[in-house]
Amino acid sequence: MARLPLLALLFLFAAAGARAGSSSFAEENPIRQVVSDGLSELEAHVLQVVGHKCHALSFARFAHRSHNRKGLSYRLAVNQFADWTWEEFSKHRLGAVQNCSATLKGNHKLTDAALPELKDWRQIGIVSPVKDQGHCGSCWTFSTTGALEAAYAQAFGKGISLSEQQLVDCARAFNNFGCSGGLPSQAFEYVKSNGGLDTEEAYPYIGKDGQCKFSSENVGVQVLDSVNITLGAEDELKHAVGVVRPVSVAFQVVNGFRFYKEGVYTSDHCGKTPMDVNHAVLAVGYGVENGVPYWLIKNSWGASWGDSGYFKMELGKNMCGVATCASYPIVA
Ligand SMILES: *[C@@H]1O[C@H](CO)[C@@H](O)[C@H](O)[C@H]1NC(C)=O
Ligand SMILES: *[C@@H]1O[C@H](CO)[C@@H](O)[C@H](O)[C@H]1NC(C)=O
Repeated sequence: MARLPLLALLFLFAAAGARAGSSSFAEENPIRQVVSDGLSELEAHVLQVVGHKCHALSFARFAHRSHNRKGLSYRLAVNQFADWTWEEFSKHRLGAVQNCSATLKGNHKLTDAALPELKDWRQIGIVSPVKDQGHCGSCWTFSTTGALEAAYAQAFGKGISLSEQQLVDCARAFNNFGCSGGLPSQAFEYVKSNGGLDTEEAYPYIGKDGQCKFSSENVGVQVLDSVNITLGAEDELKHAVGVVRPVSVAFQVVNGFRFYKEGVYTSDHCGKTPMDVNHAVLAVGYGVENGVPYWLIKNSWGASWGDSGYFKMELGKNMCGVATCASYPIVA
C-alpha cells in the first residue's frame, strides 16, 4: 500500500487552515504528543479501523495537532479513508469531473411562506437510512434515490428503498456514466422518461457497472417532473428545503473533507462553478450552530462516516458550490 505522499499531507495541512508553517510539523516530537495530549485513544481507534499503517498514524497526529485545536467550526477524525491516497479516494468515491449543466433560470417557485428557522426532515420521518456507495463513483444515484425516497414517504406516508443500480446500469442515454459519475437532475429526467424506478429489493445495489435489468413490474416510484434551483441561488434552495422537501445538491469535495467528523464544514479553497462540483448528496435541512448557518446534508459513505453519515456545510456563501447544481423531484 502506497504511503500517503508528503505533498498530500502538506495539502491537508493547508486544507485544515493551519496558520503555522510546515516546519513546525517536524519540530514537535510526535511520540511525546501522543502521550501528553490524550491522542492515544484516537490512535487506538486508527489501528482498529485501518491496521498498523504508518501514514494513518501520522494523519491522526496531524489532524489532532494542526486542525482540531484551532477553534474552527468543524472537526476531523480518522475514518475508513485514512489509508487511501487522494487519487484512490477521488477515483472510488467521487464522480469524474463533469459539467453539472446548472440552470441559469431554474423553475422553483418562491412563495411568501414564512421559512422555519431550523429544518430537519429526519424529524418528520421522511428521510431514509444512510447508504454506502462502496467503490463506485455513483454518488449521483444515491442523491437521486435519497430525494425520491423522501418524496415518496412525504407523498404516500410510508418508507421505500429504491434502486441505485438501475440508475448505474440504465441511465446512460441521459448523460450519466454509471460508476464514473452522473447528475441527479438527469437521473430524474431518466426515471420520468423510463416510467419508473425499481425498488432496491427487486434491483439491488452491486456497486459495479452492469447491463440494464429494469423490469416494469418492480417499479417503486414514478417521477412526474423535476425542479431545478437557479445556479447559486441559496435563497431558492433554502425555500425548497424549508417548505418543500429534501433537495439533491452537488458540491466540490477537496482533500480534507473526507476526514470530516462533525461541526459546520467550511473551506477557503473549494470551487463553486458547474465544472468544480464533483459529489452529489442530499440536503435534508438547515440550521445555525454557534452562530454559523449551515446546510444539513446526507452523504452516501455509510453511517459510520462523519456525523452518523451526515455533515453540515456553511450556508450563505454558496460554499463549495452547494447551490450550483440542485434539483428535486415531483412524484405525486
Ligand atoms: C456547461 O454546460 C452549459 C449548459 O449546457 C454550457 O452553456 C457551458 O458552456 C458548459 N461549460 C463548460 C465549461 O463546458
Ligand atoms: C433541469 O436541468 C436538467 C439538466 O441538469 C435539464 O435536463 C432539465 O430539462 C431541467 N429541468 C427543467 C424543468 O428545466
